[in-house]
Amino acid sequence: MKQYKRTLITTALPYANGPVHIGHLAGVYVPADIYARYLRLQGRPVTMVGGSDEHGVPITIKAKKEGVTPQDVVDRYHSIIKDSFKELGISFDIYSRTTSSIHAATASEFFSRLHDKGEFIEQTSTQLYDPEAHMFLADRYVTGECPHCHSPRAYGDQCEACGTSLNATDLIDPKSALSGATPELRQTKHWFLPLDRFQERLSRWILEGHKEWRPNVYGQCKSWLDLGLQPRAVTRDLDWGVPVPLKEAEGKVLYVWFDAPIGYISNTKELYPDSWETWWKDPETRIINFIGKDNIVFHCIVFPAMLMAYGDGFQLPDNVPSNEFLNLEGDKISTSRNWAVWLHEYLREFPGKQDTLRYVLTANAPETKDNDFTWADFQTRNNSELVAILGNFINRATVLTHKYYGGSVPVPGEMLDAEKAVFDEIDEIKKRLTEQLEGFHFRDALREAMNIARAGNKYLQETEPWKVWKTDQSRVATILYTALQICADIAIAFEPFTPFMSDRLSRQLGISQLCWAKLGTRDLVKSGTVIAQPELLFEKIEDHAIAAQLAKLEEAKRQNIINSYEPAAVKESTSFEDFEKTDIRVGTVTACSKVKKSNRLLQLSIDDGMGGRTILSGIAQSYPNPEELVGKQVCFIANFPPRKMMGIESQGMVLSAVDADGRLVVVGPTAPVAPGASVG
Ligand code: MF3
Ligand code: ZN
Repeated sequence: MKQYKRTLITTALPYANGPVHIGHLAGVYVPADIYARYLRLQGRPVTMVGGSDEHGVPITIKAKKEGVTPQDVVDRYHSIIKDSFKELGISFDIYSRTTSSIHAATASEFFSRLHDKGEFIEQTSTQLYDPEAHMFLADRYVTGECPHCHSPRAYGDQCEACGTSLNATDLIDPKSALSGATPELRQTKHWFLPLDRFQERLSRWILEGHKEWRPNVYGQCKSWLDLGLQPRAVTRDLDWGVPVPLKEAEGKVLYVWFDAPIGYISNTKELYPDSWETWWKDPETRIINFIGKDNIVFHCIVFPAMLMAYGDGFQLPDNVPSNEFLNLEGDKISTSRNWAVWLHEYLREFPGKQDTLRYVLTANAPETKDNDFTWADFQTRNNSELVAILGNFINRATVLTHKYYGGSVPVPGEMLDAEKAVFDEIDEIKKRLTEQLEGFHFRDALREAMNIARAGNKYLQETEPWKVWKTDQSRVATILYTALQICADIAIAFEPFTPFMSDRLSRQLGISQLCWAKLGTRDLVKSGTVIAQPELLFEKIEDHAIAAQLAKLEEAKRQNIINSYEPAAVKESTSFEDFEKTDIRVGTVTACSKVKKSNRLLQLSIDDGMGGRTILSGIAQSYPNPEELVGKQVCFIANFPPRKMMGIESQGMVLSAVDADGRLVVVGPTAPVAPGASVG
């Protein structure tokens, strides 16, 4: 394999129209950070660049909805995203943004050079134009009737009812989503990058040159190339984006997928104004793009074609590790349905538990197939792996060192078979761990790292220093010395995965600098070093914390049902006389309990101002604590004939509203009234 001098790691730039969630983290940022940290531990030069993607239609739509400017939207989310990445320990060398001036200049220059070199084709076509909003309607800005299934709510790029992808001009009776106006047809000119011209070179580069790429990435590239590449428009009629640097293109901007990947270059420039070219143009630099699977075509086909068109020595990525999707509790993560675990909320709700999230997302990484995040799994992995295996081992080794040697690392005696065996095992683990990290198999790598802690536990279990102490204290010195070396190995091996724990552990052990070469070297912690008092590296996560997260998701689900609720059609008209025949009164609930043997019925005692009555109501499912109704005032129908149910006579009917999700909510006056008051 080629030996490179340095590695440039890029991470997909998240859209600054919302915070980042666990899907983004598991797909891109956690794996990229693991790799960057691993290379740094190896002493290999590495730069990791990231930043916010601040252009594109979804940002302008969000701004319009909120009545603020697109700049307001991206300012807000850029800082939320940037801060939360930092708190999670994602070790960017720079995290910038595509609204920076350096990016505008870089993207502009990139376009100009391609234009001057004749790399674009210009095409005039007919597009929908909103005469009231004075703008062309990019795909999602139009709705209308689907020409295929005749659903009335198709978008300009797709009909969600039948799944067909559409051109805005295909829609029957199109309407502007902005103003409701009927769009006009107008001619507009755009610049296209003819990807077909790069078909050969891309095929050779990927299909022949990069058979080692992950099967999902290679497969997607192959099917695009097999279909035959087409020219793609790189400009848009929008007012938010990098302006197209041509006189004849006033009012047009670069398509977001043209400018965003150039952001990797702009951010490197911002970081190293003088030496950025070394990171992009020197064949001794290895470029790795970490992305999610929905970004594959842009990173493997479009951006490389742009770099080829630009020339001037720009290097293509050597690998594009792309993950599949992470689901949440069996359901697709969705920003609009609020079905997500948001990083900034997690950090607030689980303070100090960054490592746990990093650990769980890696242990469950969707590297080869979509995977599921569940809160139950999160709790189990924390409690029975981080606490019970890793934390437990380190705790035993350090507590015993304090107990027997006042915290001073003992001088070992002769190394016996047990020591040789565990050290040899760690050598083997290190080999596999290194291989997995080099191959971007982070889930397997983490399992190997955990095997070091497992080996440590097994070693202590077998050598039993707490028993041996009574008979052979010099043997205990050897055992604890060995156990502490394993603790140091853990500090190194876990640094890419759980850097906060590693940092605390290495300080506790008095190791000033972690380095991969030292992993497994058997004399990392020197005899005589006084180690700090043991501290708990991982805490148990209690059931109530998990229950709170599940309740939050339940609430999101409920909100979605309510948001998409369509009330039943109004019944046919009735008369006031008919209505007046029903005698509705208010009463105060004085007692309320479940009816035995019925899971539907509650029995309510009601003070009706007329001596009281009993009413049975089928609301038990909605009121798991019937007590909560006591003292409340409710409306009931007073003149229904009495009816016996489960051997109890019900004297009327309590009124309740049926919520969107079917839950029943008892109806009463908004301020207290006299029991028996009439409703009408
Ligand atoms: N913003 C895009 C997304 O979230 C990713 C852009 S990656 C870049 O899907 F290459 F364009 F920067
Ligand atoms: Zn349709």
